[in-house]
Amino acid sequence: MCGIIGYIGAIGTDSDDELDTDGGAAVSGAPTASVGDIVHEGLRNLEYRGYDSAGVAFVGPTDGLTVAKRSGKVDGLLVPDVPDATHGIGHTRWSTHGPPTDANAHPHTDCVGDVAIVHNGIVENHETLKRELSDHEFTSETDTEVIPHLLEEMLAEDTDADLLTAVQRVEDRLEGSYAICAVREADDRIVVARRGSPLVVGRGENASFVASDVTAFLEYTRDVTYLEDGDVAALEPDGVSVYHDGEPVERGVETVTWEADAAEKGGYDHYMRKEIHEQPESLRQTLAGRLDLDAGTVDLDVSFPPGYLADVEEIQVVACGTSNYAGRYAARLFEELSGVRATVEIASEYDVGAGRTPDRTLVVAVTQSGETADTLGAVRRANAAGARTVAVTNTLGSTVTREVNETAFIRAGPEIGVAATKTFASQVATLAMLAVAIGRERGALGAADARTVLQNLSGLPGAIQQVLDAEATVREAAKEYGDSEAFFFVGRDLGVPVALEGALKLKEISYDHAEGFAAGELKHGPLALVTPETPVLAVLTEGACADETMNNVTEAQTRGAPALGCVSSGREYDTLDAAFSVPDVGIVEPLVANVYFQLFAYHVANQKGRSIDKPRNLAKSVTVE
Ligand code: M6R
Repeated sequence: MCGIIGYIGAIGTDSDDELDTDGGAAVSGAPTASVGDIVHEGLRNLEYRGYDSAGVAFVGPTDGLTVAKRSGKVDGLLVPDVPDATHGIGHTRWSTHGPPTDANAHPHTDCVGDVAIVHNGIVENHETLKRELSDHEFTSETDTEVIPHLLEEMLAEDTDADLLTAVQRVEDRLEGSYAICAVREADDRIVVARRGSPLVVGRGENASFVASDVTAFLEYTRDVTYLEDGDVAALEPDGVSVYHDGEPVERGVETVTWEADAAEKGGYDHYMRKEIHEQPESLRQTLAGRLDLDAGTVDLDVSFPPGYLADVEEIQVVACGTSNYAGRYAARLFEELSGVRATVEIASEYDVGAGRTPDRTLVVAVTQSGETADTLGAVRRANAAGARTVAVTNTLGSTVTREVNETAFIRAGPEIGVAATKTFASQVATLAMLAVAIGRERGALGAADARTVLQNLSGLPGAIQQVLDAEATVREAAKEYGDSEAFFFVGRDLGVPVALEGALKLKEISYDHAEGFAAGELKHGPLALVTPETPVLAVLTEGACADETMNNVTEAQTRGAPALGCVSSGREYDTLDAAFSVPDVGIVEPLVANVYFQLFAYHVANQKGRSIDKPRNLAKSVTVE
């Protein structure tokens, strides 16, 4: 995944003000906000989308087109000083074609340096196109570079064509998914195109923005337009024109309600810790207005057609990584609360399966970003088979929302840390509500039982706050056990996905060896790995067969392993080396235990000085299969 930004306008400038000596335009009482500043800051906000290279291109009357790019993080990029730049584009890259080198960094230009483009996604037919462009000089190994050379061809063939026309024509030649942002020396607009990768336009006063994500420009405007697949748009300071199939179209303007500081670190050392601590609040948002505790019903703001859920014969959850573990938690809830057979598949392995009735199968795609290529691929296979599809996502306007029949938003707010934390909790909570909705509609779940589940859900924010208040005890445990050789996480029933998620979190950010197991499986093999140097962390709560799990933990302790357990209040396991108390919230107690695991992973990684928010080799959203 890559992040792209474009800006054209006059924020922070004033016709009466002279340009200051640093090149920006000064306005009394307002910060200097040159094109360079705005694009650079936007890139910093987008760095979570990819961070192996960065680059910018500016257009101004004096210097024409100026491009600067290099491998490495955004702060390592020397942004050129172009005092009279009128517009600019920027890119932060996570490599897919060609390693992270200076040459492969975006923007890419044509042979003569007339156009520059930044791109997110993959041009699948780039090899064919490159062969057609054999008389052009290519300087990178990227799929992207065919685009500026195609633009060059179009502009040379038709000298009356402008950048907008050229992008519209080039778009017809590209296969794959992309979001493109283009500038040209002789054109005073930014032209963008979207197909399959996110692109949102910001409409400010005397300023227009475009980016992969609103967080890039939220400081300047909250009025946004989400472009549709196939849209091409031209940005000017005083407005944005959108075209589809060559014809002008109107796209609505929405107002973003997130607070700007929701996307900043807010005093924490790392986004991950901030996001762990946001869970009580993000969960309140997830649940807000959706639970009717008296009636034992939920309203997920999803307009399922009448009968859509009632005759479902099977639920298939498809997802990757942490979202897959949220799906595993949910699959158990679907079976228990909805009375429907439920399976969960790793999205890249998904196939509807033989012997299924696709039109009675509900495929639930769980994806924080809504852009994960493997999950989108699974959704497309489900759609092709004729299944009913629902997305559970955090990201409005994301690609998955355009591919499915219905979408339930988890409302967790932006998550910047690569390690998913608050979104896991909000995914499980949303899926639990969906399970109740299906159970109620099918008559499989009575009002009284539904009420209990909804009460458990409403108790979650407070229960998680109690865990956060006990963070010091987890920090101590991380100090005591953090240097162990390996870590095993175990649980049963709803504790299994939490054990898997606990291990993923630890390995992802600390780079330590960690594995999650169904506790009963320990004795079938993994026990051979257990030593005094391999702590076992266990889910010992409601919904997770605590006593049986404790028996398995004891088997590991007998072989010398230290044992740490998240234990429901009211239970006592005196032999544990460390016990963390989990408040009484029924079937969502394992989700509360997960917060202890998140904090444990965070403190182990922090003590080792790891790059917590941007772990090596990983990206926040994986948009390649
Ligand atoms: O955006 P998605 O939820 O579809 O992302 C899926 C996984 O890539 C993601 O959960 C990944 O496993 C996280 N980095 C784990 O913390």
